[in-house]
Parts: sequence; C-alpha cells; structure tokens
Amino acid sequence: MIALGCDHGGFELKQEIMHFLEEKKIAYRDCGTYTKDSCDYPEYAKKVAGQVLSGECEKGILICGTGIGISIAANKVKGIRAALCHDCFSAEATRLHNDANILCMGGRVIGPGLAAKIVEVFLNTPFSNDERHIRRIGMLEEE
Ligand code: RB5
Repeated sequence: MIALGCDHGGFELKQEIMHFLEEKKIAYRDCGTYTKDSCDYPEYAKKVAGQVLSGECEKGILICGTGIGISIAANKVKGIRAALCHDCFSAEATRLHNDANILCMGGRVIGPGLAAKIVEVFLNTPFSNDERHIRRIGMLEEE
C-alpha cells in the first residue's frame, strides 16, 4: 500500500499519479487533500508520514507546488526519509543509498509523464543494504 498526499499545488499531479498506480494495479491510500482549495502542506506530510511509520503503508508519495515545503515537513518526522526527486537518477539513488521511504515531487515543476516514471523507479528500486549506507542512515537517527 502506498500513501499519497498533496496540497492544492500538487492536487492535479496527484490525480495523474493515482491513475498511473491504478493502471499498474498498485494499491494506494489517498490521504488528501481532496479539492483544489488552498490548504497547508504540513498537514498532509504528517498524515502520510504517519501511515508509513505505522507500517500501514510501505512507502509514501507527497506532492506540493515545488515539492520543497512538503519534503521539509515530512523530514521533521523521526524515521522519515523523504526525498525530493525530479529525475529518475535521483529516485533510484535515494532508494539505493538512503532507503528513502517517501518520494516528494513538485506539481508545478514536472509533468505527469516524467513524474510517473520517477514513481515507477522509486517503487521498484530496493535499498542496497550496503554496510556504509546502513551506517549513514543510522547516523541520521542520532540525537
Ligand atoms: C502553495 O502555494 C505552495 O507554497 C506549496 O505548494 C509548496 O510549493 C510549498 O513549498
């Protein structure tokens, strides 16, 4: 199960991503927002982060206008490693190296075709499990 969230700036791209996931028969949970009305991205970042941390969803996808605000908000939550990716190389690398559990994108930055490809790469790339990456991820959790 993939948790999805967006603010008004990411609403349209989230619709496209939902269509893409349906085509690929990948189950998702839409945590909102559900309209184009102006809203606050931290609320949706927290909802999706909660779904991922609880284990109800294995990964999350968050979209705002730039992807920046919603990624900052998600990364405030302990245990979340949210990666802002607007290219496939970064999407692959952040899974291999950072074991990123949330993908963030900007609905005002990229189009639906590239975004879908990024989602595909992000969801299909496993963590490398390399010792050095495990060590570095552990350091992220140190107080
Ligand atoms: C909303 O206008 C916009 O600020 C938001 O979607 C996002 O881009 C913030 O980082």
